[in-house]
Amino acid sequence: MNLKFNDSSITVAIVGCGGFIGCHLLDAILARTRWRVFGVDLDFYRIQHRLHDERCEFMCADLADKSVVERIAKYPVVVNLAAICTPSRYMAEAPEVIRSNYDHPAALADACAKSGSWLIHFSTSEVYGRTSADSGMLVEDETELTFGPVTASRWSYATAKLLTERYIAGLKNLKWTVVRPFNFVGPYMDFMPGVDGSGIPRVLANFSSALVRGEPLKLVNGGTAKRSFTSVFDAVDFMFALFEAGLAGHLAGVVTNTANASGNVVENVAEKSPFSQAFNVGNPDNEVTIAELAYKMRKIFAEIKNVDIETVPAPEMVSGVDYYGEGYDDSMRRLPSVEKAELLLGFKAKTPIDVVLRESLTWFVGHYSSLDERRETRDER
Ligand code: UGA
Repeated sequence: MNLKFNDSSITVAIVGCGGFIGCHLLDAILARTRWRVFGVDLDFYRIQHRLHDERCEFMCADLADKSVVERIAKYPVVVNLAAICTPSRYMAEAPEVIRSNYDHPAALADACAKSGSWLIHFSTSEVYGRTSADSGMLVEDETELTFGPVTASRWSYATAKLLTERYIAGLKNLKWTVVRPFNFVGPYMDFMPGVDGSGIPRVLANFSSALVRGEPLKLVNGGTAKRSFTSVFDAVDFMFALFEAGLAGHLAGVVTNTANASGNVVENVAEKSPFSQAFNVGNPDNEVTIAELAYKMRKIFAEIKNVDIETVPAPEMVSGVDYYGEGYDDSMRRLPSVEKAELLLGFKAKTPIDVVLRESLTWFVGHYSSLDERRETRDER
């Protein structure tokens, strides 16, 4: 497969190209390559500036439609980003969450196995399950996976995602790579409740919405859970490292010298292939508790608005079950090992948390302040 970045005959299919990660990936592909993009989604508001780009073709559809799946699998590289991935929905909509995170991607994997496309499937860091506060680094091919009981529907999503990984890995003729994102954040993440979405978005968007509205941030179960937040722009760089490794071909070797048992130096040729691998994509240097995240975001928000932090409402404690509903459960720590991506792809995320948060919050404040005011005026009428 010839994947040279300047080859204008290549078309990459992106499923979920109108979503948070998809919109940034689309922009980067158009800026850094001469490829064409076949984009599939149900919502295009984040990529309106691309709708008439002559290198793009878009389809408003989802993977429930078999003919759409077959059409996508005609392209040599297929990136599947489509998912229901907001925890607030894992309890009340478990069957739908499972269908969208297992049935649909499994059908796409079957089609790619038949057509020979390289499937880059976005899974989740949530496949590591119900980690405890003292869990160490999560290592792709080593860490044991533990989920909560069947009564805790929180794990509906992770279970479906994990089953999809196993299904993909089990397909004999499929060329695949699985990506496990660790809390990507940046502009266009999720939504502001009541403005362009409903329910509870993930933590960065939920805290940003509360700050814009002058409401207290809600700390679930004390805010002691830890996450490692990763810039979506670093994630896009990971994708380019991955594409490049695909470009370099299947079996380029990485050579290291080590001593054998008798003390002689031997050459080890490890496979440096991006295929048949699951990769963590995260930034372990950016690990914080959610309470620390709340403090950082309040501080940055006060700086953006040029006000004293004391004027920004203090966080409020809520219980997970009260906030999200019966069946909520949590991973207490998600610290990625990123050695595999470094070794096989030469990739390491580099954006520090304060930079990521300032960039995201500045965008959020600029994007939503006027939209939210317009909504309030409309509601008052
Ligand atoms: C979610 C998805 O389920 C994962 O699949 C996905 O990989 C991950 O986001 C991600 O963005 O990569 P989670 O990290 O639990 O997982 O999602 P959030 O809703 O962002 O919650 C993070 C932590 O903040 C949790 O402990 C949650 O209880 C807490 N939280 C969330 C609050 O304390 N307050 C809020 O307002 C929202």
